[in-house]
Amino acid sequence: MGALLGVNIDHVATVRQARYAKNASSINVEPDPVEAALAAERGGAVGITAHLRQDRRHIVDHDIYRLKEAVNTKLNLEMGNSPEIVAIALKVLPADVCLVPENREEVTTEGGLDCIKNHSALEPTLKAMRNAGIRVSLFIDPEPDQIAAAVSLGAPVVELHTGAYAEATGAAREAELARLIEAARLAAEAGIQVNAGHGLNYTNVQPILTLPKLVELNIGHSIVSRALFIGMEEATREMVALLE
Ligand code: PXP
Repeated sequence: MGALLGVNIDHVATVRQARYAKNASSINVEPDPVEAALAAERGGAVGITAHLRQDRRHIVDHDIYRLKEAVNTKLNLEMGNSPEIVAIALKVLPADVCLVPENREEVTTEGGLDCIKNHSALEPTLKAMRNAGIRVSLFIDPEPDQIAAAVSLGAPVVELHTGAYAEATGAAREAELARLIEAARLAAEAGIQVNAGHGLNYTNVQPILTLPKLVELNIGHSIVSRALFIGMEEATREMVALLE
């Protein structure tokens, strides 16, 4: 049991964009997601995740290039499967890419990437990433059909969507946990690395450590929120301690 921590720094950029989206050349631009990434690394993160969205609502292109240069651990670029963003990924060459849904039609009922519906669109992207030496993770719901689709796509990693678990309480939460455990088992059995994330925080994360063969958790909002009070390094360190 235990898991490694990847820290998602998107919401540091959210705070910056709230003030400077339309004034990016201001001498006062802050806070810097790269600085946050380095603090997270000092706190024990094994990777930094950032999502370059098509609408650039938080992370912008410049951040991704700077993160690639600055990150000492590994950069995980979260992205939708759009030609524009795929081209950027192939230029930046992050260690990892996590493919996530960005448009309504790419989303399953629960919110993960629908690898069944989007199978033919995902195939060339996975191939291009593989040829470029980028490891691809598919962000999917903990559903046997989605695991099977990830297997048939040859994905080396899946990130199981923990959002439904995080939002549920009582017996419903137990049921969501059981679904995650079963999905992790199926993925691991097929030789796929099991990561998980979304909606995890300091109080709900520990039961997730019971997922078989879990390797990495990606956590963002809750760590950035806590960082407002105790700083990014310490907020990361506290989460790392919970995962050990
Ligand atoms: N993993 C994936 C694929 C995500 O899209 C997100 C949210 O950007 C996260 C993990 C982190 O989620 P949270 O910010 O809720 O911790």
